[in-house]
Amino acid sequence: MEIVAKTLEGFESILANEIKDLGGEDIEILNRAVSYKGDLKLLYKSNYCLRTAIRVLKPIVKFQIRSQDSYYYTLLTIPWDKYLDNDLTFAVNATCASDIFTHSKYLALKTKDGIVDFFRNKTGIRPDVNVETPDIRFDVLLRRDEITISLDSSDFSLHKRNYKKKSGVAPLSEVLAAGLILSSEWDMKKDFVDPMCGSGTLAMEATMIANNIPAQFKREEFGFKYWKNYEEKVFDEVVEEENAKLIENPVKIYASDKSSDAIQSIKSNIQESAVFKNIVVTKDDFFMMEGRENSHLLLNPPYDQRIKSDDLNAFYKQIGDTFKKNWENCEAWIFSGNKDALKSLGLRTSKKLSFKNGPIDCKFHKFEMYAGSRKSK
Ligand SMILES: C[S@@+](CC[C@H](N)C(=O)[O-])C[C@H]1O[C@@H](n2cnc3c(N)ncnc32)[C@H](O)[C@@H]1O
Repeated sequence: MEIVAKTLEGFESILANEIKDLGGEDIEILNRAVSYKGDLKLLYKSNYCLRTAIRVLKPIVKFQIRSQDSYYYTLLTIPWDKYLDNDLTFAVNATCASDIFTHSKYLALKTKDGIVDFFRNKTGIRPDVNVETPDIRFDVLLRRDEITISLDSSDFSLHKRNYKKKSGVAPLSEVLAAGLILSSEWDMKKDFVDPMCGSGTLAMEATMIANNIPAQFKREEFGFKYWKNYEEKVFDEVVEEENAKLIENPVKIYASDKSSDAIQSIKSNIQESAVFKNIVVTKDDFFMMEGRENSHLLLNPPYDQRIKSDDLNAFYKQIGDTFKKNWENCEAWIFSGNKDALKSLGLRTSKKLSFKNGPIDCKFHKFEMYAGSRKSK
């Protein structure tokens, strides 16, 4: 069957690699999504394991539409009772890039009307809509005149991994954090340092990646559990097989922040689960702390969108100076939404990637502080 995993802009090839590792076939990179072929077990595994997927869809119908009315009448002919019953609730998410529907909310509403009227015509009663916590979630994508309707096997977004009880002031999404780590070519042998850790998303995702811990080891809710063809035994098998792949990687993961509130939140987050027990957490100002040679640093400093800094350029210059002074023979990646401030680091960039954090265009830049190979001092 066809499966489509959605992701954030820029992470399509990282997601495609993850899917290949899980055994997906006929993998095709799309815009903010990857399509592939697999069975029900792969669909469950995709939900349980993929770190850079936001949701996993199973397309059920594709057709062309000429008008809003032709769309509605086609909806009445689809056997919705294969997926939904009168006593289940449902929701519709819609996305459109078309002249036929120009508002995604209206497309969702029209789809909901078609589904409801199918049941009303057939049984005299109708299933209820529940936008927040539906039993069955449908996803509708309209591109020009091509409609794809899918079952959403994840339900709510897969960035909600359920291991984090406390968030800081500007936490990264778990999907974004995992995508950044996987893009940073970390060899999982060098110490991983998250010196502006906030609530600890990067340090926790790094721990999961280094130890083969499935992305959703703490999450129990998935949309597919409410499907008529749900095979509990197969999902249990997936969980058992994937959990058996856990390793105890001796690599060290350090997380620090200068804020007491941030340290409190990461500490309470890592206490939630034994798998994070080896993260070394300290309250430290990055500009004062001692560096560790041969480390892999990943920084998510404030960049003046949600957190204000008196003089951001001076702050970034201080980060660059600290790299040069204290972190010899290390590689450092910075994720920031402030291009100008990045220029103030005063270091030569060895790799440049671009991503988004919500609506904010962000840069992910690599710096190498290798004595001799680069004039970093
Ligand atoms: C954008 S937040 C990091 C969010 C984090 N990645 C998360 O997912 O929760 C930036 C963090 O940098 C910390 N910070 C700012 N200046 C610092 C400094 N000089 N040393 C250490 N931490 C600092 C702030 O306290 C804040 O927690």
